Amino acid sequence: MATDTLAVQLSGIEKRFPGVIANHDVNLNVRAGTIHAIVGENGAGKSTLMKTLYGMHQPEAGTITVFGAPHVFKSPSDAIAAGIGMVHQHFMLADNLTVLENIVLGSEPAARGVVQYDEARRRLEAIMDQSGTHVDLDAPVSELGVGQRQRVEILKVLFRGAKVLILDEPTAVLVPQEVDELFSNLHRLVTDGATIIFISHKLDEVLTVSDDITVIRAGTTVAEVKPDAVTRSKLAELMVGSELPSPHGRTSEVGTTIRLSIDGLTLAGPGEKHVLDEVSFEIREGEVLGIAGVEGNGQFELCEAIIGLAKPMSGHITIDGTDVTHASPHERLIGGLSYIPFDRHREGLLLSAPLWENTLLGRDADEQFQKGPFIDAAAAKADSRSIIERFDVRTPSETVPAYALSGGNQQKLLVGRELSSHPRVLIAAHPTRGVDIGAQAAIWEKLRAARDAGLAVLLISADLEELIGLSDRILVMFDGRINARLTPAEATPELLGTYMTGGVQEVAS
Ligand SMILES: Nc1ncnc2c1ncn2[C@@H]1O[C@H](COP(=O)(O)OP(=O)(O)OP(=O)(O)O)[C@@H](O)[C@H]1O
Ligand SMILES: [Mg+2]
Repeated sequence: MATDTLAVQLSGIEKRFPGVIANHDVNLNVRAGTIHAIVGENGAGKSTLMKTLYGMHQPEAGTITVFGAPHVFKSPSDAIAAGIGMVHQHFMLADNLTVLENIVLGSEPAARGVVQYDEARRRLEAIMDQSGTHVDLDAPVSELGVGQRQRVEILKVLFRGAKVLILDEPTAVLVPQEVDELFSNLHRLVTDGATIIFISHKLDEVLTVSDDITVIRAGTTVAEVKPDAVTRSKLAELMVGSELPSPHGRTSEVGTTIRLSIDGLTLAGPGEKHVLDEVSFEIREGEVLGIAGVEGNGQFELCEAIIGLAKPMSGHITIDGTDVTHASPHERLIGGLSYIPFDRHREGLLLSAPLWENTLLGRDADEQFQKGPFIDAAAAKADSRSIIERFDVRTPSETVPAYALSGGNQQKLLVGRELSSHPRVLIAAHPTRGVDIGAQAAIWEKLRAARDAGLAVLLISADLEELIGLSDRILVMFDGRINARLTPAEATPELLGTYMTGGVQEVAS
């Protein structure tokens, strides 16, 4: 349904934060009925621009025009009234409520103050059928996987009557099958007259699904291109001015010492079924063991059990020869275990605390930060500055709160902290989630260096290229079990996809 009518026109947008010019003279033209991609490196100003369009930020300068009419948005409700909806980079659902309650929250069709849930349910069922985006309306959000949560966010936006949908890195959290499904649903919405703006660091998908691409660099628009007129490397060059990275490459060899051993690990679930069922594997010194799987098949519980946050029914966990099955998370930390968690906001960072407190988190018992009975704040700040520098975290200083970092820079900080505790075993869940291709290459480099120095890594990643490229061996998890064991040489994204969705055909090893 692409036309030359502009659904959104942003001109000369300027947005500053203390010490940072997040957007400067940004121009964006989004044609109605198209899928418009926005790309650019971490901290380039993409989310800020979209939050401005959604009324969360008020720009210092510039104009916002929606379907030809100029607007000044004082808050998201003004933007919603103009037909703009946004699904954020980090989801914002209330865990203790059901899907229906979450969607209706704040936009209830109320009659005399009473929420009309039946009416809302009828409308939502129609929206689900039309958009192909289905989810159980009565499920508590706390029980949903990340792909399902995203659907809830999309339905919420559609329920509020959005004609322009902004999706901030919707695919960063999805596995390939879910990505295909999302894009097919987005195409349906566009066919029905919607306009989509989405942000992504995955250049392949940007080139495949978008009608137009806007490139933002250092806070300003540098190019608008058509996907058929550029290649991946050309796009990368426009974004960051660097070559496309590759996860491959190794000169060292896997050692002989077993660093992590998991033996017959079984974890009870909320229902009758076990969330982990007789899971066994070993990881040696200098080895990367990759785990592929659609989210919700036991990977999260496996990590929780290894770090000591979930109690197994049976089985053993051994770190460096010591049985830690009953050890506390703190004891495991001291024993050389480190964790890059699935959700950096819930588990990894204290968003309102300064960066230096965040880099200290979990490492405060370390001698270098002790000064008598107190924490040596000066040492902790110096260490934080060193992490910021080595991991190229873009920020004015170590004293800004973590929420002020862009998503990718939060991730770089987290990875930096975990690698700085010199672990012997690292559990890395989606270590490059949401980082740009340049930062991804840098994180791969750091992981490879730590591995070469003897680190054992359990790598969980939805990015199959990363998984195949970094791993020495790959396991596929399905339904709480190990469904396949492969070498990277025999693993292809297609084959992994088959196992990830429950396929069991034999492969010659
Ligand atoms: N609330 C805030 N307070 C202070 N600074 C902020 C705030 N939000 C964003 N910034 C800063 O504005 C700049 C742009 O951030 P933004 O989140 O828009 O980047 P992005 O392009 O979305 O990056 P990413 O790909 O990492 O998500 C960054 O320097 C960031 O630190
Ligand atoms: Mg962002």
